Amino acid sequence: MSNYLTVLLLAATLLLCAWTLHKVRQIHLLAHQLRDQADSAPAALFHQLEALDGLQRELQLDKSLPRTRGWAGSPDFLLELARHARSARPQLVVECSSGTSTVVLARCMQLQGAGQVYSLEHDAAYAAQTRAELARHGLSDWAQVIDAPLRTHQLQGESWLWYAAERLPAGLPIDMLVIDGPPQATGKLARYPAGPLLFPRLAPGAAVYLDDAARSDEQAILRRWRSEFPLLQQSRLACEKGCARLVNEELAADAQLAPALPQAMLAPQH
Ligand SMILES: C[S@@+](CC[C@H](N)C(=O)[O-])C[C@H]1O[C@@H](n2cnc3c(N)ncnc32)[C@H](O)[C@@H]1O
Repeated sequence: MSNYLTVLLLAATLLLCAWTLHKVRQIHLLAHQLRDQADSAPAALFHQLEALDGLQRELQLDKSLPRTRGWAGSPDFLLELARHARSARPQLVVECSSGTSTVVLARCMQLQGAGQVYSLEHDAAYAAQTRAELARHGLSDWAQVIDAPLRTHQLQGESWLWYAAERLPAGLPIDMLVIDGPPQATGKLARYPAGPLLFPRLAPGAAVYLDDAARSDEQAILRRWRSEFPLLQQSRLACEKGCARLVNEELAADAQLAPALPQAMLAPQH
């Protein structure tokens, strides 16, 4: 009996030791994780401050930009947009969602003395706010914020909630497309419809920028676009929220994107 109790006690002690070791190991790993986070957070913040400073200089702004934290585009993403716009000199820029990015892109148009930004915005109050920011910067002539409430679109037999985009200028090829909306909360793969609805309008050589590309939803959208639009070359840029760049290969004719997309897919549902 006493042997049995000794064995039981020994087993319980061993179990307790194993459990304690397991917990100590967990705490050890957590401490390393916290140390790594503490090390990288100031560097990440410094990187955003550098990008913000770069933006102010490259855009020669004499007024402060609107917010670049939270919902707004991050400085590193905005700097990528500005650098592309300054070097590629797009004439027609389309944006899905307005905000700080609209001010940045409008300033690029003003600096190059040509071009126009059309920004689709589903939230009327936010659209008014962006227009006020454009006016504050003297950029109202270079960008139009289009009130574009979300409505149902039928694409390949599926219903999607996306912008009412009829007020985009018809017929003109898009040289640069920035996709930072609709917000994720409006539906699964909320930004996917920009592909079937706008990619067929991309000019040869046009570039598409997708913000928040690190999120699993955006990664699924990119996979779907890759199979449906194989002529768009995808690459990733190192931005804090993830950024994907898709380029309509220089030699690819506009018409080459269209066959992947039967017109029936584009039919809006009123
Ligand atoms: C990612 S934000 C747009 C960011 C924009 N491209 C920029 O650089 O500022 C996408 C949408 O979120 C909405 N939004 C922006 N700020 C918001 C806020 N503070 N609360 C709720 N919605 C917001 C706006 O309607 C906007 O179109």
